[in-house]
Amino acid sequence: MKKLEEFRNDFDILKSGEYVYFDNAATSQRPRQVLDAVSNFYKTTNANPLRGLYDWSMGATEMYENARKKVAEFIGGVKSEEIIFTRNTTESLNLVAYSYGMDNVGEGDEIVVTVMEHHSNLLPWQMVAKKNHAKLVFLEPDEEGVISKAEYESKITDRTKIVAVGHVSNVMGVTNPVKEIAEYAHSKGAVVVVDGAQSAPHMKVDVKELGADFFAFSGHKMMAPMGIGALYGRKELLENMQPFLTGGEMIEYVTRDDATYAELPHKFEAGTVNAAGAVGLEAAIRYLQKVGFDFIAEQEHKLTVRMMEGMKKLPYIKIYGSSDPARHSGIVTFTMDGVHPHDISSVLNDDHVCVRAGHHCAQPLMQFIGAGSTARASVYFYNTEEEVDRFLEHLAKVRSVMGYED
Ligand SMILES: Cc1ncc(COP(=O)(O)O)c(C=O)c1O
Repeated sequence: MKKLEEFRNDFDILKSGEYVYFDNAATSQRPRQVLDAVSNFYKTTNANPLRGLYDWSMGATEMYENARKKVAEFIGGVKSEEIIFTRNTTESLNLVAYSYGMDNVGEGDEIVVTVMEHHSNLLPWQMVAKKNHAKLVFLEPDEEGVISKAEYESKITDRTKIVAVGHVSNVMGVTNPVKEIAEYAHSKGAVVVVDGAQSAPHMKVDVKELGADFFAFSGHKMMAPMGIGALYGRKELLENMQPFLTGGEMIEYVTRDDATYAELPHKFEAGTVNAAGAVGLEAAIRYLQKVGFDFIAEQEHKLTVRMMEGMKKLPYIKIYGSSDPARHSGIVTFTMDGVHPHDISSVLNDDHVCVRAGHHCAQPLMQFIGAGSTARASVYFYNTEEEVDRFLEHLAKVRSVMGYED
């Protein structure tokens, strides 16, 4: 397949073919175009943005603000000032919890989350609930990993102030019915916070169509550098929120005892910003658009089908989530009878196959599915069928390495 080969050639780290990288849900690899954009920023325009009145600083500001426009276009054509640059999804969600949640959730109110949430979309809400004496309510999926209409309609009520839901689960790979949940949540007057860490890299997102009042994602899972992420927030909400962090260029005027704050989006961007990261994120979005979400979905589906079919032939493997590969978003979480997931990962690593093992920062979900920890293989569009076969070949040897005679 010509297109795949062309794209794969852009990833120097994958070129030798020595390693099979199946931990894309944790972080993706970066193509040369992204690395070049970051390096070009430092080589040609580096200065502290948003401060200086000289060419380099103004150039850095322009590149940083252009990146913001690109992000705004990428998630459905929202206003630039509705995009806040953060370090990652975790920081974006903390910003919402602290600057919106703490001031808008009171005693007896409810915050609805799913039991599938990554800790980054759970712990900030635990903090709000504890501090303000509110209650956390959990949506639970069925056997196939799906949150039913009956489930969310019975748990989202007039007491619900916030519904915080992951768009795609980093363990099950399932895409949650966010649009339907958001519609229902809005009918009850709740604000909807969407964790898009696992959706933005893989599918076209339109935050308005989705009904997200806030949408958080990380650059590093979609080929941008680590340390840059974004938060979309509806302007009316952001305008009425207090800053999350303070200091630097997020001010309008400061006296000894008080301060007024800058307009959006800078009110939420304290300290020196990650301009090179933002430039890298813009390059990553351009690259994603060149690859195209249709190609990404097609490729990930093909690889997931091959992987799950191969794994089903191994009777000692249990796959979590849906039995339908189409509902996995390239993520296959599994356990192996008699072998700890850490051993699966270590034995595979001996053959240079990289998979994740552990609780995937989703311990309540691990408790819900009755597994202490699991192994997870996750693909991206640049992975190949040959790599899936190598993974399967080595996976089939793990039990014998661990002393089993199957
Ligand atoms: C669904 C989900 N939410 C949030 C996060 C946190 O992302 P980050 O570590 O980039 O803040 C992750 C990372 O694995 C994730 O998969």
